[in-house]
Amino acid sequence: MNIGVFGTGYVGLVAGACFAESGNDVVCVDIDAKKVEKLRQGIIPIYEPGLPEMIERNTREERLTFTTDFEAAVRKSFILFIAVGTPTSATGAADLTAVFNVARDIGRLMDRYKLIVTKSTVPVGTGEKVREIIAKETKHQFDVVSNPEFLKQGAAVEDFMKPDRVVVGADDIRAAEILRDLYAPFVRTGSPVLIMDVRTAEMVKYAANAFLAARISFMNEIANLCEEVGADVSMIRVGMAADARIGPAFLFPGVGYGGSCFPKDTKALIQTGREHDYPMKILEAVDTVNSDQADRFVSKVRKHFGKDTREKRVAVWGLSFKPRTNDMREAPSIKIIKSLLNDGFSVGAYDPEAVEEARRYFGDRVQYSTNNYGCLEGADALLVVTEWQVFRNPNFERMKAMMRQPTVFDGRNIFDPGHMRQLGFTYYSIGRR
Ligand SMILES: NC(=O)c1ccc[n+]([C@@H]2O[C@H](COP(=O)([O-])OP(=O)(O)OC[C@H]3O[C@@H](n4cnc5c(N)ncnc54)[C@H](O)[C@@H]3O)[C@@H](O)[C@H]2O)c1
Repeated sequence: MNIGVFGTGYVGLVAGACFAESGNDVVCVDIDAKKVEKLRQGIIPIYEPGLPEMIERNTREERLTFTTDFEAAVRKSFILFIAVGTPTSATGAADLTAVFNVARDIGRLMDRYKLIVTKSTVPVGTGEKVREIIAKETKHQFDVVSNPEFLKQGAAVEDFMKPDRVVVGADDIRAAEILRDLYAPFVRTGSPVLIMDVRTAEMVKYAANAFLAARISFMNEIANLCEEVGADVSMIRVGMAADARIGPAFLFPGVGYGGSCFPKDTKALIQTGREHDYPMKILEAVDTVNSDQADRFVSKVRKHFGKDTREKRVAVWGLSFKPRTNDMREAPSIKIIKSLLNDGFSVGAYDPEAVEEARRYFGDRVQYSTNNYGCLEGADALLVVTEWQVFRNPNFERMKAMMRQPTVFDGRNIFDPGHMRQLGFTYYSIGRR
C-alpha cells in the first residue's frame, strides 16, 4: 500500500516507520524542512528505543522516504495519515490549526480517490470538519476515517507493532476494511481491531487518556493523605492492585503526570464538556490535583531548608516527563526546577537523554552533568524527579561522600525509606514515612 504520513513527530515517525516495516511504501511529510533534512541524513530528532534501527533499515531498503513536498506525497499515496500536533489552545481546547491545514492541502492537491485517516488526537466532531474542509477543495471522492493512536512514548515502536487494540472510526465500511487489512500484520496475536463510528472513535482516545490521568491523580491524593495520617502508600498500592477489578497499572504516586498527552487531553476533554454544558467534574479535579502535586513536592524542599536558600544547591535526577524519552513537554521537572531557581537555589541536573531539550527551558541557569553523580558534588539535596532505570541502584556511599548534606527528596519512590535512613540519608518520598 502507498501511504503518506503528515507530521513526523513521536506519532507520525513511529507510524511511518512501522508501516514501512510491514512492507508498505511510506512517505513521511513535514513542514519543518530542517527536521526532514536531518531525517534524510539518518539523524533522528527524538529518543525512542528501537526507532533509529527501524528507520535506517526501511530507508535503506527504499520503503521509507521523507519530504516537504506535499503535492508529490498526496499524489503518490492512497492512504493519507494526519499525525500533526494538537496542542492546548488558550481556552484549554485542542488547537486544530495544523490538522485543518493538512486537510486543506490534501483537498487541494488530491487527483483521485484518497482515504484520509486522522491519527492525531482530536475532539469529537473534528472528522466531520476535516471532511468539510477537504470537500470544499476537491471534486474527487474521498473518505475520512478516525484512527486514534495509543502508543506510549518510551515504548512507542513496541506498542505500535503490538497494539492492545486498534480503533477505527469509519462511516463507510469499505474504508474501515482497508484499515483492518493495513493493521492485520500488527494484530496477529489476536488484539482486536475495533470498528465504530467516527465520533465514538474520537472520544475513545480522550476517555482512555483521561481515565489513566485520573488513576494517577487519585493515587497522588491517596499518597498525600497517607502523609497526613501516617500510612504507607506503597502497601496501599499493592493492596489495591491485588483486586482484579483494579489491577496494578498506573497506581504509582509521584510528582504528577506530564508529557504531551495527559495534560493536554484532560484539558481538551474538560473544554469539550464546557462547550456542551456538561462540566467534567472529575476531570477538573484530576487536573487540579496534578498541577498541585509538583508544588507539594517543592513545598517539602522549602520546608526542609526554610528561608535560607541562597547558598544551597540541589541536584535533580531526571528531566524528561518520563523515562525512556527525551520529551520535556509539560514535564514536572520544569515547574519544580523553575520554582527552586526562583527561590534562589542553585540547580545541577542529570538526565540520560533530555539535557539538550532541557537547555531550551532553563538555558544556562541549570548546570548539567554527564552522569548522575556529577551533579551531586557539593549538593545539599538530591531530587529524584524522573525514574530512569539507571537511578535505581546507585552507589549510595559515593553519593554521600560527594554531597554536602545527604538529603534525598524521592519524587518517584524508587528507594526504600528504611534502607535510606540506615545509610544515613535524610529521606523524603511520596506518601511514605
Ligand atoms: N506523543 C504521544 O505519545 C502521542 C500518543 C498518542 C497520540 N498522540 C497524538 O498524536 C498527535 C501528534 O503528536 P506528536 O507527539 O507526534 O506531535 P509532535 O509535536 O511530536 O509532532 C508533530 C509534527 O507535525 C509537524 N507539522 C505541524 N504542522 C504540519 C503541517 N501542516 N504539515 C505537516 N507537518 C506538520 C511538526 O513539524 C511536527 O514535526 C497529537 O494529536 C497527539 O495528541 C501523541
